[in-house]
Amino acid sequence: MTMVDIILKKRNGYPLSKEEIAHFVEGYTKGSIPDYQAAALLMAIYFQKMNKEETAHLTEAIMKSGRLVDLSAIEGIKVDKHSTGGVGDKTTLALGAMVAACGVPVAKMSGRGLGHTGGTIDKLESIPGFSVELSIADFIKNVNDIKLAVIGQSKDLAPADKMLYALRDVTGTVDNISLIASSVMSKKLAAGADAIILDVKTGDGAFMKDIEDSFLLAKEMVDIGTSMGRETVAIITDMDQPLGLAIGNSLEVKEALQTLKGNGPEDFTELCINLGAHMLLLAKNATTFEEARGKIKDTMASGTALETFKAFVKGQGGNIAYIENMELLPKSDKVMALLAEKEGYIHGIEAEAVGLGALALGAGRENKESSIDLSVGLVLNKKVGDYVAEGDTLAYLHYNDENRLSSAKERLIKAFKLQSEKPKERPLIYGLVTKNGIERY
Ligand code: URA
Repeated sequence: MTMVDIILKKRNGYPLSKEEIAHFVEGYTKGSIPDYQAAALLMAIYFQKMNKEETAHLTEAIMKSGRLVDLSAIEGIKVDKHSTGGVGDKTTLALGAMVAACGVPVAKMSGRGLGHTGGTIDKLESIPGFSVELSIADFIKNVNDIKLAVIGQSKDLAPADKMLYALRDVTGTVDNISLIASSVMSKKLAAGADAIILDVKTGDGAFMKDIEDSFLLAKEMVDIGTSMGRETVAIITDMDQPLGLAIGNSLEVKEALQTLKGNGPEDFTELCINLGAHMLLLAKNATTFEEARGKIKDTMASGTALETFKAFVKGQGGNIAYIENMELLPKSDKVMALLAEKEGYIHGIEAEAVGLGALALGAGRENKESSIDLSVGLVLNKKVGDYVAEGDTLAYLHYNDENRLSSAKERLIKAFKLQSEKPKERPLIYGLVTKNGIERY
């Protein structure tokens, strides 16, 4: 079989076999298939699409391109959570501690932020001393003892995905359901969890802007997980505005801590309760959804979620004085109010523009080498549906550098979409996808 035959077959609309897909992924990872042929095949896949079988074969080939993590030394059913990416998404920080406080092991591999999206590891590193550089043995020990540990995603996990994703990024082939589903699921499957919950974002700030496409993507990923023997469920959630109020590393840690104490923003708290309840069900820690919701809520009311978070931070070298008194966490020198330039109801807060505004303040990385300022970012004062008069405060900008402030302000003010009529209420969670089908809320 030659790569030209494979490209022609897909270009002409025929399904590829398991062997052809494996030949492509292996050859591309080893360097025997050049970028130009891989790019041609990706574009053919983009236009001709892949069926479910091809997508499952592609996922398996990408998963097998690197190391498969073995979590069998961790007691209990390991459930992993993945979000398809969002702005202000500090879910792992709060959710991990809530679920672990119920006795369910959470063994998480996370990444750093790039561009307009933040990363869990950067956020955790706002806590002095905290390190994600654990050996696999210590990682497993911490999960067994504390029920929660987070490490950086190792370089040899699904290396084909890193190469293919970089190529897709520069060839206009990112937003294809089979390519996204195989990219996400190959990493999740290689990371070794027994069951997986996916938070598929929909709306302006998400890969999938259209709700129906988001359900299709979720179904595709659930089917892949199921076909590989891992119970997988997905919820579809709103990303027409950032999640919660805080965007920026230490600001998000503070918001996660407030949430663990039961004082978090309503949307973020509800998302944690919903995702957490699904995780307990997948781990067989509860028998009904209502029971599972109750258990997660109890972790906030009783203080066990916060205690678990402290033990987790201590277990990874972090100074818990910063958790006990969060005023000690990195703080910017200055704060200014971003004021509304006209009156109206907020119809949307463009998540990507907000992410880019936070990046302009220094909270994110423009490229892999850039350093970040853990103290800066913004805290929203208004959300979608709120009415604002001219001069009302839309958000508080936490900054250190005046030069960075002006470009951030310009982006952020444009992120708020104001209209004269009140917008229709939108749900936070649009539905649930399981192996049995789609349930719309
Ligand atoms: N996230 C991923 O990991 N891969 C994609 O293709 C899109 C989002």
